[in-house]
Amino acid sequence: MAMQNYVYKSLFKVVSNTVIRSSSCWANVELGPPDAILGITEAFKRDTNPKKINLGVGAYRDDNGKPFVLPTVRKADRMLVEENLDKEYASISGIADFCKASAALAFGDDSSVLKNKLNATVQGISGTGSLRIGAAFFAKFYGPNKVFYIPTPTWGNHTPIFKHSGLDVKTYRYFDPKTNGFDFNGACEDLKNMPDQSVVVLHACAHNPTGVDPQPEQWKEISSIMKAKKHFPFFDMAYQGFASGDCTKDAYAIRHFHEAGHPLALCQSFAKNMGLYGERAGAFTLVCSSAEEAERVMSQIKIIVRPMYSNPPIHGARIVSKILNTPGLKQEWLKDVKGMADRIIGMRTQLVDGLKQEGSSHNWQHITDQIGMFCFTGLKQNQVERLIKEFSIYLTKDGRISVAGVTSGNVKYLANAIHQVTK
Ligand SMILES: Cc1ncc(COP(=O)(O)O)c(C=O)c1O
Repeated sequence: MAMQNYVYKSLFKVVSNTVIRSSSCWANVELGPPDAILGITEAFKRDTNPKKINLGVGAYRDDNGKPFVLPTVRKADRMLVEENLDKEYASISGIADFCKASAALAFGDDSSVLKNKLNATVQGISGTGSLRIGAAFFAKFYGPNKVFYIPTPTWGNHTPIFKHSGLDVKTYRYFDPKTNGFDFNGACEDLKNMPDQSVVVLHACAHNPTGVDPQPEQWKEISSIMKAKKHFPFFDMAYQGFASGDCTKDAYAIRHFHEAGHPLALCQSFAKNMGLYGERAGAFTLVCSSAEEAERVMSQIKIIVRPMYSNPPIHGARIVSKILNTPGLKQEWLKDVKGMADRIIGMRTQLVDGLKQEGSSHNWQHITDQIGMFCFTGLKQNQVERLIKEFSIYLTKDGRISVAGVTSGNVKYLANAIHQVTK
């Protein structure tokens, strides 16, 4: 009782029947900055302009600008309801059929990875959670060093995820603002100058935020430089199928690196290519040198996962597993993905055509050369500010737009606005 009184007196003052908090354990906690992307969505919501466009958020929209649930996802959902499944825990590594199908989608059904059981694959909490597991494993077990090399620029969450896992982060050149394209020579030079056995983070396809991917010949060269330097490829594949519309084509880099004899790490997300954003379905894979090594690695990944979140959510993974393991449904899904990718590719063309029709004299070819959900427009910060202020078009200040937010209904307005701020 005496102790209770002491705590009460030291924490609160009573002033005319009102309890006022006079001190708190969190008094020195500073207000953090809002998340850059979510901040844009908040500002967009507050805007009352009926012509407003949100090009900040990285989620697919249909041609009416509405969130899109894939028809195959709806079907799989209904099939799962019919099955009357229980809601028991998944194992620490997640749903086994999901893990197997995820690895098969990345490496190919006939890949030696699966045939020789070289993969240690666990279900992750979408792409982010899979990256977090991978980073934790490298922080604990990767011998040569604890540095991850990321491209400049890269997805904004890479650095926080890796640092949160106890790793250091350094960069290699990737995007060339002069050409709005891939800085192939800069990247190769940096890869050659890194210490041997460095871990290099590679976007497998549809690089976020630039939309700039290496060509197959360039991937081959990157692979051979990395092989010579014994660098470790750590792939982030959040957009398989979203780049070209073809899941096999988009897995080129991963399959080439494996065939070239690299060990590799792979983080997959089904947020975009299945539209399962909030279901949080993803996978982390380490390709090992033998089945026996994969078993040992797997046991340690589970030891990492257990105290983080015990075991992953089941529903999203069940949907993915149902689609990938039901042949007819898988074929339908491949068409769904192609439909989304094609709409984005079409919008890129329409935007460039619209800019030409407005009379823009700039070269906008990079908009159609770039691939996937995002486009690095090359717009400067002051031009971005004008787009937001004068036209209610919301995008990140680095000039990135999510092409998924462009529709046949708003593309003309967008082209006009970009022309106005760049002429
Ligand atoms: C490059 C990259 N990696 C990973 C992710 C992870 O996304 P999620 O955790 O929603 O699957 C994203 C999402 O925007 C991304 O762009």
